[in-house]
Amino acid sequence: MTIRDLTASDIDAAAALWHQAGLTRPWNSPELDAQRALDGDTSTVLGAFDDERLVGAVMVGHDGHRGWVYYLAVDESQRGTGLGMRMMAAAEDWLRTNGVAKVQLMVRSGNDAVLGFYEHLGYEDANVQVRSKWLFQPAS
Ligand SMILES: CC(C)(COP(=O)(O)OP(=O)(O)OC[C@H]1O[C@@H](n2cnc3c(N)ncnc32)[C@H](O)[C@@H]1OP(=O)(O)O)[C@@H](O)C(=O)NCCC(=O)NCCS
Repeated sequence: MTIRDLTASDIDAAAALWHQAGLTRPWNSPELDAQRALDGDTSTVLGAFDDERLVGAVMVGHDGHRGWVYYLAVDESQRGTGLGMRMMAAAEDWLRTNGVAKVQLMVRSGNDAVLGFYEHLGYEDANVQVRSKWLFQPAS
């Protein structure tokens, strides 16, 4: 298993993985999200490859203050093998290398099953409320 930054040619496979993992929403284009993360200086998308097949992906970046992790997914065939933990470790390493001291992530309400995974990795309840607002309606 190799973990490396994705390239543009991996984006469709990453989007398919995120769809299968239930992480996509109609108002977000995962392809566009991944392209932007790969194009930016402060973000990337890491992928785990079993031979040539993408079996794990995570988006990581920072906003100048905190690090953020999005779109963590492991192919169903590889879950429970420690790969999710390795992907998170790779994302954390990327942030450390970029001088970021603290990492945050958001878990959607309804995805409570994953909370135990993050707790296992040392992610605590940050005791904050996240608020959001549409600035324009994305094209569907
Ligand atoms: C969350 C996800 C990435 C975990 O990946 P995984 O490869 O199955 O997890 P790992 O095998 O690395 O698990 C690491 C450890 O966490 C534990 N763990 C995994 N899921 C857990 C859960 N839901 N609750 C409690 N512990 C959990 C494992 O038992 C393992 O423990 P160990 O170190 O004692 O062996 C995977 O389940 C997934 O892709 N889910 C769908 C997408 C998703 O919801 N992503 C999160 C978006 S916020």
